[in-house]
Amino acid sequence: MTEAKIKTIRSIVRDINFEGRSLLSINDLTDNQIYGLFDLALQLEPWNRSMVPLVSGNVMSTLFFQPSTRTRMSFETAMHRLGGDVISEANPMVTSSAAKEESLSDMLKVVSKYANIIVMRHFNDKDAREAAPYSDAPIINGGWGHWEHPTQALLDLYTLYRTFGKVEGLKVCVASPDLIEARTGHSMAQGLARLGAKVYLASTSARRTPAEVMEKISARGIKVEEAFDFTRDSFNDYVSGMDMIYLPGCSAPKGPEAEAFKVIMDNYYVRYDTLKKVADKDGRTIYITHTLPRRAGEMDLQIDSSPHQLYFEAIAYSVSIRMALVCAILGV
Ligand code: CP
Repeated sequence: MTEAKIKTIRSIVRDINFEGRSLLSINDLTDNQIYGLFDLALQLEPWNRSMVPLVSGNVMSTLFFQPSTRTRMSFETAMHRLGGDVISEANPMVTSSAAKEESLSDMLKVVSKYANIIVMRHFNDKDAREAAPYSDAPIINGGWGHWEHPTQALLDLYTLYRTFGKVEGLKVCVASPDLIEARTGHSMAQGLARLGAKVYLASTSARRTPAEVMEKISARGIKVEEAFDFTRDSFNDYVSGMDMIYLPGCSAPKGPEAEAFKVIMDNYYVRYDTLKKVADKDGRTIYITHTLPRRAGEMDLQIDSSPHQLYFEAIAYSVSIRMALVCAILGV
């Protein structure tokens, strides 16, 4: 039985055909590879609280130049669950030779001599993209600047797939007052559109989704809807037609602009009453996911203990899909 399961996993990994590759953008994966990773994650779910030694002998390095709870810990959990080892720099600007002005390219060249796979988060996507080719090991983007966070999109797409059994045809609103800087929103909007979801982008007109992201979507002949400058009522009306509301969060400014931004942010607040009204009237569940961390004032916390909540469900799925990605890159 175990042998049969391992053979199945091996054949899925082989079919995904991503061994030795890096994942910098969600567009580094084909649609078939994304679905292959879903299949593999499903096979691996029984072990996401135990261990299946599929990559033992391999070392993962996690280099996080920005704070993280979920991305770093779920990759490290995934690697441990697969029987691999982890070497981690959670604060490299203090504890590594980056503090002595070592270049990122030198760091990746060196670390890739120790590690078989690197997961890196970096505050500057241009620097990260320029340095990535210096790594001799595959590298996974764990969130780079304001550009992309592809594995967050992958786990949220997988959560959607596990919840609805499909992505195609679902109506999903990616909503934030600031979609310029929403790296998870950029990866997710592209992933959703590619897998055939109906995508709605709700933001302020001043901070709409970057042209680069919109162009990549339209280059594939896919249309997404953008809508701007909501009030709290119009926003809640708009999202009441969705299957899922995807909240990538936003980085609120500090200092003199902070109070003005809170007023804008308040217009994108998800009300529990909106969700309940639709459920009572139409028997339809609108799911909410948030990439987390969230800040006060983004949603009604009653949603946490309601059937609409998907953001904590996604945490468990994140381990399985990251296990799948690690297997696909390292081979089993
Ligand atoms: N969603 C996400 O990337 O969370 P962390 O910043 O905690 O990794």
